[in-house]
Amino acid sequence: MVILGAGGFAKEILQVVEHNYANEPLAFYDDRTENLPDLLFDKYLILKNQEELKTYFLQHGPNFIIGIGNSKARAYMIQMATEHGGILQSAIDKNAHISTYCKIGNGATILNNANISNAVQIGKATLVYYNVVITHDCTIGDYVELSPGATLLGHVTVDDYTQIGANATILPSIKIGKHCIVGAGAVVTRDVPDYAIVAGVPAKIIKYKE
Ligand SMILES: CC(C)(COP(=O)(O)OP(=O)(O)OC[C@H]1O[C@@H](n2cnc3c(N)ncnc32)[C@H](O)[C@@H]1OP(=O)(O)O)[C@@H](O)C(=O)NCCC(=O)NCCS
Repeated sequence: MVILGAGGFAKEILQVVEHNYANEPLAFYDDRTENLPDLLFDKYLILKNQEELKTYFLQHGPNFIIGIGNSKARAYMIQMATEHGGILQSAIDKNAHISTYCKIGNGATILNNANISNAVQIGKATLVYYNVVITHDCTIGDYVELSPGATLLGHVTVDDYTQIGANATILPSIKIGKHCIVGAGAVVTRDVPDYAIVAGVPAKIIKYKE
């Protein structure tokens, strides 16, 4: 098993991976950060280029998990690792509360105390942090990041590559476009267009992504 990334979110997901994939050898992958040690926590190898990743997949199996928060980087790294023979896996914490009647796409990373209700759909490689609440009939796209404590009330839609900030609340039936950012602590009362960055209570557009 390889966790793609060796930074903040990679460390967050480690405990889930150690628990769910206890029988597989584990390494991290980071080809960007300079001066990384060879081992993380004096224990896990850090692979530092694509050649090492490819060799690791061949020698230890093709499974990988995405350990990066940024949506675009998640998509890029998944494609890169897949091209080198990797197979994307999900990592769902045993203490996440996930209803029977919801659909979760491949490669999801879901942390402790997330609550996902019935009739929810979640796309590919979405990140659901600690204490996120997703209530009934919400639809979440691909590569979305739901930060700690975010609350999505019924029938909310969040499109691909959007980040919902920590402790933001999205009121029922609101539609949030793709590539948006909802600021930490925002209360979103109106639909949000693609690429908009909104913040505040009630949330207002403060700018658009370039
Ligand atoms: C909304 C956000 C994306 C804006 O970041 P930014 O583009 O760097 O914007 P700035 O910090 O320059 O702030 C622009 C203005 O919005 C205000 N603002 C920024 N974030 C805000 C927030 N969460 N709530 C209310 N106002 C906010 C700033 O005070 C500033 O106001 P001013 O122009 O009157 O001085 C960011 O502040 C944020 O909240 N990100 C979410 C972080 C998060 O939850 N991460 C989770 C990681 S797990």
